[in-house]
Amino acid sequence: MSYENIRREDRDGVAFVTIHRPDKLNALNDQTIGELQHCFDALGTDDSVRGVIVTGSGEKAFIAGADIGELASQSPLGARPLAMKGQKLMNTIEQLPKPVIAAVNGYALGGGCELAIACHLRFASVNAMIGLPEVTLGIIPGYGGTQRLPRLVGKGRALELILTAKPIGADEAERIGLVNRVFTQDVLLEETEKALRKIMAHGPVAVGFALDAVNHGSDMSLADGLNYEATFFGLLTATDDVKEGMTAFLEKRKAAFKGS
Ligand code: COA
Repeated sequence: MSYENIRREDRDGVAFVTIHRPDKLNALNDQTIGELQHCFDALGTDDSVRGVIVTGSGEKAFIAGADIGELASQSPLGARPLAMKGQKLMNTIEQLPKPVIAAVNGYALGGGCELAIACHLRFASVNAMIGLPEVTLGIIPGYGGTQRLPRLVGKGRALELILTAKPIGADEAERIGLVNRVFTQDVLLEETEKALRKIMAHGPVAVGFALDAVNHGSDMSLADGLNYEATFFGLLTATDDVKEGMTAFLEKRKAAFKGS
């Protein structure tokens, strides 16, 4: 499938996915959601890719939200499947068995904030503005924002962002744990790639299991989550990567993981 509104470029195991609708500040219209779904489905099963960076085209916006032009003409019967289509994409991103980092290079509003919080980590540029302004339009976040944001920053802070609709800057977002790190715009992608490659140097099966344990465990009771964790912990001992990781430590050398 060829894409019109996104770009995918692979470099040495990292896929760079760029939302590219610069004239609409990379707003997510239906076609872009479809293209992203196709792209992330493919990334999930592509063994040549071990990590993903998502960013927006240009220096002003990561994603300025769902496309308001499209939303304006929605009926109740059309809007529900639209929300579910967006939610499916965010679930696919969150459940990818390899690390996904959002490089938030400007406005991350509405669906842009929701896509960023579906990613495993968020690095932001100093000019980033992040928020959920949906109530100013008479709607609520529909791509997972009411569910993922409280899990990420706590109910009180999430409600403040959702109810006041006021976006926050990168430093405040870092302070409340909404983003992990902040960089100047000129080094954002470089620093994001550097951090991703450090993660990719670790045991890939362990990284995938850690993502799964955290993602699914947060929806379970503590007892079930601990049981899930212990099962993964046990399973990992059967991998070649465990033998390599521990042997490398004892031999005082860097591990060369194969992902098996
Ligand atoms: N949907 C559709 N188009 C959008 C958009 C969105 N979410 N966000 C921006 N655009 C379009 C604008 O309509 C404009 O298009 P035009 O040149 O054809 O008129 C273009 O992108 C540039 O945006 P503009 O508003 O002129 O830029 P700005 O620098 O003055 O303001 C924002 C930037 C992000 C503050 C402003 O665009 C905005 O508030 N966008 C909507 C954010 C939002 O509510 N998102 C949640 C949607 S559920």
